[in-house]
Amino acid sequence: RAEQIPVICLDGPTASGKGTVAARVAQQLGYHLLDSGALYRIVALAARRAGLPLDASAEAAIADLAQQLAIRFEGDRVLLASEDVTEAIRTEQAGMDASSVSVLPAVRTALVALQHSFRRLPGLVADGRDMGTVIFPDAPLKVFLTASAAQRAHRRHAQLLSKGISANIADLLADLEARDARDMSRSTAPLQAAQDALALDSTQLTADQTVGQVFEWWQQQQPFT
Ligand code: DC
Repeated sequence: RAEQIPVICLDGPTASGKGTVAARVAQQLGYHLLDSGALYRIVALAARRAGLPLDASAEAAIADLAQQLAIRFEGDRVLLASEDVTEAIRTEQAGMDASSVSVLPAVRTALVALQHSFRRLPGLVADGRDMGTVIFPDAPLKVFLTASAAQRAHRRHAQLLSKGISANIADLLADLEARDARDMSRSTAPLQAAQDALALDSTQLTADQTVGQVFEWWQQQQPFT
């Protein structure tokens, strides 16, 4: 039964390091990985390509697209109907667009079954905003990962530079604060810690230390595995 398959939820704001931490935890445990943000990014990309406005006026049409998306994850590549969209969905614009479509309740509903389908043996690490609150409320471990806005802007900047993309820290900070505000204030499944989530502030931690803390909690949670 699905409820018996373990899930580790990692929720938190943009650039908090969730992606890196989730991938490493999944890899070390041999678990599946759900990057739920990628789903919203792909939906936004498909909606843009279809010429739809990314707001409530196109909610039903975008939800339809979301329902029919042929998404595949192959290793670290993301495929949309066999087109590699890994880079296309990682731009700042794609993140903002994802945040816009994710406000629409019908779009969120259209992605629920797909997200649940990632829960397969031996287990799942799920990265997002509402993994612990809405999608996997019975997960045995929920971590709410934060970091100061300044630190997150700094990390995003370093990440872009490492890809040869130049960016301005002040612009990145403004962008991520705008995205946080929208993600936290929407009425459906806003970004918030589940009541039973453990808070982890990674402002002063390295990725290794953050992963280490998640493992420590997981071991306390599953003492016999
Ligand atoms: O984690 P990310 O930056 O790839 O997410 C992009 C956007 O998608 C984020 O700003 C809000 C939305 N999102 C969401 O609403 N719910 C999720 N579980 C994951 C992402």
